[in-house]
Amino acid sequence: MRQKLIVGNWKMHGSRASVNALIADIRQGIAIVKTTQVAVCPPVIFLGDVEALLKGTPIAWGAQNLCDQPSGAYTGEISADMLREFGCRYVIVGHSERRALYGEGDVLVARKYALAVKSGLIPIFCVGELLAEREAGQTEAVVARQLDAVLNHSGVTALQQGVVAYEPVWAIGTGKTATPEQAQQVHAFIRERVARHDATIGAGLQILYGGSVKAANAAELFRMPDIDGGLIGGASLNAVEFLAICQAAG
Ligand code: 13P
Repeated sequence: MRQKLIVGNWKMHGSRASVNALIADIRQGIAIVKTTQVAVCPPVIFLGDVEALLKGTPIAWGAQNLCDQPSGAYTGEISADMLREFGCRYVIVGHSERRALYGEGDVLVARKYALAVKSGLIPIFCVGELLAEREAGQTEAVVARQLDAVLNHSGVTALQQGVVAYEPVWAIGTGKTATPEQAQQVHAFIRERVARHDATIGAGLQILYGGSVKAANAAELFRMPDIDGGLIGGASLNAVEFLAICQAAG
């Protein structure tokens, strides 16, 4: 039985003060969330604060990105081992904003995935199609290409160490959620594609949905058989809303 997982991706929002306040509010309300795993991914500079505030609580934390190299002369980059040192359990890999705005391609994303696993982090590996790709009937082809980049680079066993997040790009920050049926279809496709390599790993893989999830639509998405939780952007910046989404998964 796969456990549900809700992850807040705070993107580049907040200040030191607002992050501390948000963490305090989530901590205070987390007791109502019983069976769901919960994590937050703040901007990396706040990880020290977040670690201090969340250590010993049931809430895990992670980063939004990592370097594809273990260490060295990579100005401005953060390594997997550094993230581990700050207690990170998760790291988001291949988010569509990094693919689109910072030119991250499938090969780079696959290298980051491999390094995250090697360092003991759980990569949250994002896949998803653009609106034009969906309209051209290419959703499955795009998601397959993104998935295969990691499968070919690291092998199916690496998927046992990670989480996949299906985030249709047209649903991110737009208020336009995929319908539960649309999301379920792609989630089932992802699971089946992994299961082709290894049935047990496919069956056990946590696949999150991301894209305009809010308390009002969370329950109907999480009810679908292959949706194992959510990667939440905007709604994760509000503690009441985020906790309601966590509850909807329980
Ligand atoms: P929104 O929930 O704001 O649409 O963002 C989704 C996302 O990109 C999470 O990684």
